[in-house]
Amino acid sequence: MTGRFGASAIFILTGAGISAESGVETFRDKGGIWSKVRLEDVATPEGFARDPEKVHAFYNDRRAGLADVDPNPAHRALARLERDFPGRFTLVTQNIDDLHERAGSQDVVHMHGELSRCLCGHCGAKADAPAALSTTTACHACGRTGGMRPDVVWFGEMPYRMEEIYRRLVEADLFVSIGTSGAVYPAAGFVAEARSSGIRTLELNLEPSEGTFLFDEARHGLASALVPAFVEAVLADVPSAGRPR
Ligand code: APR
Repeated sequence: MTGRFGASAIFILTGAGISAESGVETFRDKGGIWSKVRLEDVATPEGFARDPEKVHAFYNDRRAGLADVDPNPAHRALARLERDFPGRFTLVTQNIDDLHERAGSQDVVHMHGELSRCLCGHCGAKADAPAALSTTTACHACGRTGGMRPDVVWFGEMPYRMEEIYRRLVEADLFVSIGTSGAVYPAAGFVAEARSSGIRTLELNLEPSEGTFLFDEARHGLASALVPAFVEAVLADVPSAGRPR
């Protein structure tokens, strides 16, 4: 058991709130993405089938926006934790941005996919996404056009790597949820799964999430302050831990 939390295996779940201070829009805050565009139109297979160019424009715009944002102290603190924590460490994110990777995180489980990747609806092949996708984008594998889509998990689709996620969740002894409203399953159900496995649970969020009552402890404030303080506390008793970068 290590660190002031006495944890030997930490499982972290992040949501849009960890990227908010980097300038990436969240979904359900006041003025958030879903107050400006209907998720049925841009985040469902039906919406893509109905108007693929509208969906491409939505994700092309968000992909282009990645060039204008940088990781914040919360992303960097989690990269430090992965580097210096001697126990098992899992980072699962609902986010499709690349800020965890750009902060130095090595093993990021993107359960909702990634803006920087694309997927062929015809043959299933995946590749790094070009700057802009369209209905004329040809698949590098099957050569066909019309099927290429962002490699993003839409509502009604199965998130990625769920078996691995649940295996790593039940092996943890500390579950920390950061920057998520707890509004979307299956991620919103992870805290209940952790509790039923006797795992200690902590929420770090700007405001109480929908599942805040399920957490052993909840700290509310800005991720850029809460997350570095949490990481500092975990690593406080770890002699080999480096200093924050
Ligand atoms: N620091 C910490 N928390 C913050 C900050 C901040 N600076 N800013 C906002 N938050 C919190 C909000 O209080 C809110 O609870 O982050 C949460 C963001 O919630 P959502 O916008 O609902 O985003 P998220 O929970 O990641 O959404 C889950 O829904 O639309 C789908 O696929 C999409 O992955 C997304 C999923």
